[in-house]
Amino acid sequence: MSAQRTNGVIVAIDGPSGAGKSSITKLLAKRLGYLHIDTGAMFRAVALMAQRGGIACDDDARLTELCRGIDIEFEREGEAYRVLVNGGDVSREIRTEEVGLLTSCISARKPVRDALLQMQRKMGVKGGVILEGRDIGTVVFPDAEVKFFLTASAEERGRRRYLELVARGEKVTLEETIEKVVCRDRQDESREHAPLKRAEDAVPVDSTAMTIDEVLSFMEKTVKERVAA
Ligand code: DC
Repeated sequence: MSAQRTNGVIVAIDGPSGAGKSSITKLLAKRLGYLHIDTGAMFRAVALMAQRGGIACDDDARLTELCRGIDIEFEREGEAYRVLVNGGDVSREIRTEEVGLLTSCISARKPVRDALLQMQRKMGVKGGVILEGRDIGTVVFPDAEVKFFLTASAEERGRRRYLELVARGEKVTLEETIEKVVCRDRQDESREHAPLKRAEDAVPVDSTAMTIDEVLSFMEKTVKERVAA
């Protein structure tokens, strides 16, 4: 393990939207006593601020400026996990479908990726962290000690997302939710900078027919084996 990892190893969890990364990462972090860093929330925070500032998704000059002045923090209080931007709580606002689609576009821009890459490395370098995202094992921490690539079929991911949105009171159909999942996958996989792809040394986990508990137990066992090795 690298000498910089004074707090433990780095666990990278990558995969497409709706594969269960957030729930799994949160629970796994708790079991291991590690810090959970939701990098998707960081891209969402930038997208929300761009939307508020009327910045177009391809305006690299203004996006660079925005990223220079942005302060993103994660705050935990018991079970609550909050995302703060420049001190303000944006946890709910960053989760709408509208911000999600805008994030897919904004996260493809190089100035945004470069700025967040630096922030993510700073947050994780000491180890004892689990980072979830799309490019953690390939770009942010290619030297992470443990890497997972968590997937599920597009239909199953769409179904999970649909149930989440309906529970939140949003009016959507299952069909359109699956379509959006497929569309987001396409954007994330085909972009030029840091596209979504499995790192060669990442452990693939297909959660289509697995319960959260099954996925969690498998991952916890894998991390513990790697740490002990
Ligand atoms: O995981 P999520 O749905 O909150 O991610 C929102 C968007 O951000 C998604 O379109 C992919 C993008 N993203 C990224 O490009 N790189 C990351 N490390 C995390 C998320």
